[in-house]
Formats: sequence, C-alpha cells, structure tokens
Amino acid sequence: MKQNTFKSADDSSIVLTELMLPIYANFSGKIHGGFILSLMDKTAFASASKFSSHYCVTASVNRVDFLNAIEVGELVTLKARVNYVGNSSMVVGIKVESQNIRTGLIRHCNSSYFSMVAKDDQGKTVKVPGLIISNHTDLRRFLRSIKHIKMRNERKIEFSAENFIPKDYDYIFKKYNVKLDL
Ligand SMILES: CC(C)(COP(=O)(O)OP(=O)(O)OC[C@H]1O[C@@H](n2cnc3c(N)ncnc32)[C@H](O)[C@@H]1OP(=O)(O)O)[C@@H](O)C(=O)NCCC(=O)NCCS
Repeated sequence: MKQNTFKSADDSSIVLTELMLPIYANFSGKIHGGFILSLMDKTAFASASKFSSHYCVTASVNRVDFLNAIEVGELVTLKARVNYVGNSSMVVGIKVESQNIRTGLIRHCNSSYFSMVAKDDQGKTVKVPGLIISNHTDLRRFLRSIKHIKMRNERKIEFSAENFIPKDYDYIFKKYNVKLDL
C-alpha cells in the first residue's frame, strides 16, 4: 500500500502583492470588489496547487466580508495557507491587507476561506498530502474548518428538497418580516 505523505501548512504559504491601479476602480473610485475576489481566487489556487502538487479547482468560498474599502494607489497583499485537508479537498485561508504607500498604514480588508479540490490530468479528483499540525494557530484553523464543514453538511441535509417540511419552521416565521402565502 502506498504511504501517505504529509506536509506542513508552511509548504502551502503564498504571499501576493499587487499595486492598485486606476483601472481596477469602480464608479465610486474605490477598488472593485470583484477584482479583489479574482486575486483571492488566484492566491487560493496557487496555495492549494503548491501544497498538493496538482492543479486545483475552486469548489466553494466560505464568506467574503469586505471590512474596509481599498483605495487606488495602495499596495494590496494577500497571504494564503492551507488550513485543512480532506481526501482531495483543502481549505485555504486568505487574509487581505492594504497598505497606504505614503503613510505606511496597513488595514485588514478581508479574510476568507476557499475550498479547493485537487484534480489529475484527466480531471479526476486526487488524494492530497496529509497536514502536519505543529502549532496552536494551525490547530485552531484546522478545527474551525472541521466545524464549518460539519455545519455546511448539516445545512445541506436539513434544507434538501426531500427533507424540507415548511410546517416545521412555523415558529421561526413569526419572528421575521415575512407573510407566508404558499
Ligand atoms: C468541486 C468538484 C471538484 C466536486 O466534484 P464531485 O464530483 O462532486 O466530487 P466529490 O463529491 O467526490 O468531492 C470531492 C471533494 O470535493 C469536496 N467538495 C465537493 N463540493 C464541495 C463544495 N461545494 N464545497 C467544498 N467542498 C466540496 C468534497 O467534500 C470532497 O472532498 P474530500 O475529497 O476531501 O472528501 C466539481 O463539482 C467541480 O469540478 N466543480 C467545478 C469547479 C470549477 O470549475 N471551479 C471554478 C469555478 S470559477
């Protein structure tokens, strides 16, 4: 039987810095969120592919909160590393910071978690290396990912078309600004 290989999160570390040009701005003069999402996807791809030694695809993104707007002329740095590995999937945590070049002020703009899946040349999913957890931060990130995956799976089952019974939620609708007209 082939031995499982293990790698540390450091082996997945990617840092990408990009200068925010005027062409990336939206109508209000701030950097377009879609452009930042594209940089995040690229960074997650690089991190997961580096870790797994396979090209990866983005399976899903767990929440993107834009905490601070990014200005034209700022330097944006994206830091990524693998937080969790499954069989063929990995969760890549990404932190986005902007830096004002003249003042040096650094702001946290965004943190997000990208689920990436490793594929072979035929497009089939492939096993990824195991993760060596050697510090509390990596342990915390791994456990957070497990919890998120568990919650995602539970939600998927609870709200599947086969399982969903509207009557079970009557008590909830009373609290919300809706009128059921089924
Ligand atoms: C994501 C994808 C690989 C899943 O393929 P699949 O045939 O459903 O594969 P499986 O059910 O065997 O799942 C493979 C792994 O992906 C994970 N996965 C599947 N869907 C997922 C999702 N929505 N979010 C997170 N992980 C997911 C599974 O949990 C599994 O993980 P594991 O191997 O670590 O246990 C496939 O749907 C795909 O290629 N999607 C298109 C991806 C793409 O084009 N992305 C770019 C869009 S811009």
